[in-house]
Amino acid sequence: MPPVDDPSQGGTEQPEYGFGTAAVHAGEPRQKAGQRPHDADHADGDLHLRRHPGARATTSRAASTREEYGRYGNPTQRIAEQKLAALEGAEDCLLVASGMAAVTTTLFAMLSRGAHVVVTDDSYRRTRQFLNQTLHRYGIECSTVRAGDYDAIAQAIRPNTRILISESPTNPYNRILDLERFAEIGRRHRVKTIVDATLRDALQPAARSRYGIDLVLHSATKFLGGHNDLMAGAVLGSADIVDGIRSLLGVTGAVVDPFAAYLLIRGLKTLALRIERQNANAQAIAEFLEAHPKIRRVHYAGLASHPEHAIAVKQMRGFGASSRSRWTAISTRRAGVVDGCRIPRIAPSLGGVESLIEQPALMSFYELTTEERLQVGIKDNLIRYSVGIEDGADLIADLAQALARS
Ligand SMILES: Cc1ncc(COP(=O)(O)O)c(C=O)c1O
Repeated sequence: MPPVDDPSQGGTEQPEYGFGTAAVHAGEPRQKAGQRPHDADHADGDLHLRRHPGARATTSRAASTREEYGRYGNPTQRIAEQKLAALEGAEDCLLVASGMAAVTTTLFAMLSRGAHVVVTDDSYRRTRQFLNQTLHRYGIECSTVRAGDYDAIAQAIRPNTRILISESPTNPYNRILDLERFAEIGRRHRVKTIVDATLRDALQPAARSRYGIDLVLHSATKFLGGHNDLMAGAVLGSADIVDGIRSLLGVTGAVVDPFAAYLLIRGLKTLALRIERQNANAQAIAEFLEAHPKIRRVHYAGLASHPEHAIAVKQMRGFGASSRSRWTAISTRRAGVVDGCRIPRIAPSLGGVESLIEQPALMSFYELTTEERLQVGIKDNLIRYSVGIEDGADLIADLAQALARS
């Protein structure tokens, strides 16, 4: 591969680089000798890294360069946004204070009183709470349909439906959305489509450019940051839509902290390496668990037993590093496997370098009764194992000893 700024590439034709190269270099200005610092500020890194199909430069847009006051943006945030936009193949990116800030600011910006939203079930509980409780108070209605039931999604659309929103993979059961079908339903009914791709193991360049999803959201707190040490969220899509959301952010103020943006830039540089390792570990763990007599079921898209394995093969580069297993033993013994693991920490996040394990019934959904939890699909025997970059053999041996003792 030629050096990234190889002038021999010639003319105005720019060389194209892969995801790993873009993760390290995209969006970062390169100052040349004799160049005033400001000239390099928005020069798209001088590298002309490949933006994935469908992407266009966004750096000249006035809305994206407003920095006279911190709530409107800062230079570190811009670099992180440009790097994410390049990786996603999006025309524009807005970085905000958390994944939930991405969800709430986007929905507030795109909806008005009297509007209707269709959301698929098995979505992050705070997103559903925002739709069903907060937005409901502002006269916005929401219908929840089963993930994977495309007829139900189409049938739920009303004349006042403005948004179809889904996760892929879903949280917590790792269902995979057929992006082509989802986007097609949106186009057919002239309704905007939004996919929260937080549980995706990497960005989803194909979601917008190949399938035509209007907006991709991320909790950058997870895989993108990758070290469990920052909170941030990203909104990726066309400049027109992202600009509208950016304008509202200047009012509502869920702005990303510049230090978090710096940590994100740093974390993104190793994204390709981390994901490769996490995917390999997750696949090996999923196969080990699936064959284990004490495990009833493993929810992991890399397994042939997963209901959307074929869709995952078609549209995902890896299968996500977040596997979910349903445990078969009684509750005291269930708690035993979580407590019995020596390597993963007990925590509810995912996507970072260290493995995490949790029992959602006892942690993320602790305040609900068993009946309420079952209504949102959380069984008491569900365990969530988010795979890190440790040695896969160590993780499997650790799970084996915890299972043997429980
Ligand atoms: C799918 C999904 N979307 C959004 C969020 C919210 O992200 P954050 O915790 O960064 O606000 C989460 C958090 O777990 C999530 O899993």
